[in-house]
Amino acid sequence: MFAQADDTKNIINSEDTTFSYDGIKQLKWYEHILYNRPLRVFIVFLLVAVLVPVTIYQFHFIPSADFQLSIGSCLIPETARLPCGPGFIPQDECHAQCCYDVQRGFCFHRLPSRFSYILDRPWSQYLILHPRVPTLPFNSKNRLINLRLSISEESATHLSIYFYSAKERFEAGKRLYNKTYSYVVSSPEVNIQVKARQGTIFSTVRGPLIASDGIWEATFQLTNGTMYGLGEIPLSRGTTKMIYSHNKDFSSIPLIFAKYNGSYHGLLIDTVTPTEVTVQGDNELVVRSLTDTGLKFHLFVGPTPKDIMNDAMSFIGAKRKLEYWMLGAHICGTSGKELNEFLRTMTSTQIPFESHCGHRPIVLGSNRCEDTEAKYIKDVEDGANVIRQAKRRFVPHISPYIRYNEKANASKAPSCTILPEFELFMYRDPYTFEVYKGQVNEGEVMYPAYEIVSNHFLRRLWPLTTKLDGMFIENNWPLDISNKSIHDPSSYLAYFSEDINAALTDTPVWNMTLLDREKKYIFKHNTYGQESIRAIMNMSGVDFQPAVTSQWMNGEVLINRQNIDASWYNLHKELIRAAVGGISGHWLWSSPICGDTVNFDPARQSNLCAKWYMASTYFPMVRIESGVVPRDPSAFNGTYRNQMITALNRRLSFLPYFFTVLQNGPLLRPMFYQFPEADALEQVNTQFNVGDGLLIVPNIHVYQSYVHVTMPPGTWYEFWAGEKVNVTEGEIATIPTLESDFLTLIHGGSIIALQNDAELTAEATRTESSFSLIIALECYNSKTNCSAAGDLYLLPRLTFHFKATHEKLYITATGDDFTPVCAWPGNVIREDVKDVKVFGLDNQFNNYDTYRLIEEWIVLCNLENSDIIEFDLV
Ligand SMILES: *[C@@H]1O[C@H](CO)[C@@H](O)[C@H](O)[C@H]1NC(C)=O
Ligand SMILES: *[C@@H]1O[C@H](CO)[C@@H](O)[C@H](O)[C@H]1NC(C)=O
Ligand SMILES: *[C@@H]1O[C@H](CO)[C@@H](O)[C@H](O)[C@H]1NC(C)=O
Ligand SMILES: *[C@@H]1O[C@H](CO)[C@@H](O)[C@H](O)[C@H]1NC(C)=O
Ligand SMILES: *[C@@H]1O[C@H](CO)[C@@H](O)[C@H](O)[C@H]1NC(C)=O
Ligand SMILES: *[C@@H]1O[C@H](CO)[C@@H](O)[C@H](O)[C@H]1NC(C)=O
Ligand SMILES: *[C@@H]1O[C@H](CO)[C@@H](O)[C@H](O)[C@H]1NC(C)=O
Ligand SMILES: *[C@@H]1O[C@H](CO)[C@@H](O)[C@H](O)[C@H]1NC(C)=O
Ligand SMILES: *[C@@H]1O[C@H](CO)[C@@H](O)[C@H](O)[C@H]1NC(C)=O
Ligand SMILES: *[C@@H]1O[C@H](CO)[C@@H](O)[C@H](O)[C@H]1NC(C)=O
Repeated sequence: MFAQADDTKNIINSEDTTFSYDGIKQLKWYEHILYNRPLRVFIVFLLVAVLVPVTIYQFHFIPSADFQLSIGSCLIPETARLPCGPGFIPQDECHAQCCYDVQRGFCFHRLPSRFSYILDRPWSQYLILHPRVPTLPFNSKNRLINLRLSISEESATHLSIYFYSAKERFEAGKRLYNKTYSYVVSSPEVNIQVKARQGTIFSTVRGPLIASDGIWEATFQLTNGTMYGLGEIPLSRGTTKMIYSHNKDFSSIPLIFAKYNGSYHGLLIDTVTPTEVTVQGDNELVVRSLTDTGLKFHLFVGPTPKDIMNDAMSFIGAKRKLEYWMLGAHICGTSGKELNEFLRTMTSTQIPFESHCGHRPIVLGSNRCEDTEAKYIKDVEDGANVIRQAKRRFVPHISPYIRYNEKANASKAPSCTILPEFELFMYRDPYTFEVYKGQVNEGEVMYPAYEIVSNHFLRRLWPLTTKLDGMFIENNWPLDISNKSIHDPSSYLAYFSEDINAALTDTPVWNMTLLDREKKYIFKHNTYGQESIRAIMNMSGVDFQPAVTSQWMNGEVLINRQNIDASWYNLHKELIRAAVGGISGHWLWSSPICGDTVNFDPARQSNLCAKWYMASTYFPMVRIESGVVPRDPSAFNGTYRNQMITALNRRLSFLPYFFTVLQNGPLLRPMFYQFPEADALEQVNTQFNVGDGLLIVPNIHVYQSYVHVTMPPGTWYEFWAGEKVNVTEGEIATIPTLESDFLTLIHGGSIIALQNDAELTAEATRTESSFSLIIALECYNSKTNCSAAGDLYLLPRLTFHFKATHEKLYITATGDDFTPVCAWPGNVIREDVKDVKVFGLDNQFNNYDTYRLIEEWIVLCNLENSDIIEFDLV
């Protein structure tokens, strides 16, 4: 099975069973491990002259009392092997302290790994840890000699674990009396185990812990069960993800949910340097980060996914303001038409949308040299006016880089240059130290280091005077599509993989620097997006949160998904990413319908696009890209166009419910989040909850004529027809769907308010359309013991509450802000219910096949003067 030919790498020597620490035995130990052939003993003695002084220096603190270090075994099942260095490498590159599988050509760690750090006494945060093996498994470089471990008890359910170089500032961990976890740091080989009610929720499994100048690696296990996160449901074995903001990113924070022993706990990877996360065969997570300072993790104890989300949100922040119009469709591009004409077409074809991005995206600085400054600004402002005249919102798209105009026109119009006045703030080319020029579709651009720019610079940069209603900050990874094949960083970075390469492809060259040449760009990249957000908000003076492509641990911004190719696979992925993003704290998440790249063929993919519109009904926010390849419904024909418009109208009908849900939680939710106790749903990623009340089952394949639903707990009715799904929990129901269908179920026990008469915007629908209530009863034992309840949040100080039995509906209100609803004329929200549909009544009461429809008015404003409205259902 293993090579026996060469060194002891892979052979366990019987003498090698104990290790007592003093200078001489140390020598013997190395002798056994490294050189069990007598011939080599000579070399050992030669080396010892160098090694002994060093090792004695390293370990001088260790008292002579002996303690045992593990030997480690190479006899590890294939799935449990952790790669030592890159893993698949030739045998002679495999470190002597690792094992090698000749058949697979795989170099892996012993278990326990020899690449651990050791302590001579019980752990405290002041102690310095030293490496057991002085070199790295990657190349023959040295490991960091002094390391500290800080564990901070942030709250009763939140713990942070921080390995860092002892050269860094000492990090004192907090201590609490009240906490729901306990942890043990073992010595002499440092190993951490965290326990909570559900059992061990974090263990470093005596795997490698490697720290050096340039790369840190830690291995740990969260569970032997299912994990979720990093854009995946489930996060399965063999997956590798890069935490390096780029155009194929998962967009949310790197939060991992783990299910263990029926409960959930979470881990947030809080390391700004480029970091690769791999899920190994036994569910170990291997985290490799190109850093020289440390690795930090936050552990959230749970026990439900919701608890984890709440803890994560109190860490990343959640202060944002959701306005009703933001839930309507946002369009960018004009289908090749003049903006005016495009807006007229949309109106005449009855396509609802809320906002438009105007004539063109704003590239900072592009105002300066384009013919004349005035003309460009005028163009943008004209666009804004046209949009406002059409009674829509102006929400422009902005990128953080600056157009490079300097050479072409500097001499003609010196006022239009940004250099040399602000040269100091610009990133430099690593070869020439000239200002670095990246490539985007609009041309050559420069990247200011927003972390150091001055207020004066920010004021000079902002080109507009017109007011914005919202803002999409796009390409702020930031984007650079220039060809970087001559900049191969592989030999310069301590560790390099295909995944790092892919992440680097469309971002600026890895080692551009500022004039001080202090730090290479790659180490600051992950926070660049966040810094650009802060700068753009500052220069534009806006007081709302923008939608952004790249952020760093910022729960306040909206997410703007970008670079999605249109495919069935990506439709499914976008649903998963939005659901994972939502429960990671990014509730306001926008995704482009039918993608936003040129990879879309309207003629061939109309059916996909129509389904995507139907799925978009339930996305928290939606964007329609109609620039180079038009995707708005007016670009399609006949049936597909009608399906798309119907889907947009349905979205408008559902908005009162979505707006209510988004006050207190994410909209689109994975099954494990909504039903943490239902084991049958643990791995399901083909159906999603929308709030507590709805379940959607998207078609994710072409020509699918039925969908499978794994039934969650409770009673479920088809949303439009009210037919009960008679399949028991955990079983799979197979339900036919037509091409025009999108299966939506409603949970027994919920009441949902719709506004079915869609107008051309969300706000107009809110004002004009009467409400319709859907009551889905949950009945216990008999059809005379049923109940349902639901809320309708309208304003910060006005929420209506609905409660129903099999006989009556009761409506109450909290809050007193009735004016926007009840003042007439001039109310901005419609005040009445025109019909009520009830699912789940005894058949005799149904006036339709599967439900009872009551067409009677209920005037909600009556609650201004009375405490309760009672309404008979039968
Ligand atoms: C610990 O928590 C309990 C209940 O949560 C509380 O009553 C008690 O005061 C807390 N103790 C301290 C020292 O904070
Ligand atoms: C599972 O959790 C229960 C408490 O919820 C605990 O008593 C039990 O020890 C746990 N099992 C394991 C294997 O940790
Ligand atoms: C995980 O470990 C626990 C305790 O050792 C065990 O009861 C459970 O069956 C394991 N689960 C899986 C999926 O292996
Ligand atoms: C430079 O100015 C000319 C006219 O003055 C204009 O046509 C051209 O587009 C400008 N070039 C750039 C890169 O802005
Ligand atoms: C990038 O440049 C290299 C060498 O300059 C060339 O071989 C390669 O084809 C280029 N790639 C692209 C995508 O332009
Ligand atoms: C930047 O990286 C390239 C290889 O990618 C290397 O040739 C060059 O010397 C580096 N420059 C600096 C300043 O580190
Ligand atoms: C941002 O704006 C505020 C107030 O306008 C100002 O005080 C601050 O210094 C600005 N600049 C930066 C770089 O944050
Ligand atoms: C719509 O119909 C026109 C004419 O019938 C055709 O040229 C066009 O390709 C169709 N568009 C799509 C998206 O099918
Ligand atoms: C479910 O059961 C009810 C009563 O048991 C029956 O009326 C209804 O037709 C069934 N629905 C389906 C889809 O089989
Ligand atoms: C209705 O069902 C609930 C839940 O099963 C039960 O607690 C309650 O006693 C029942 N009420 C009547 C009137 O049967």
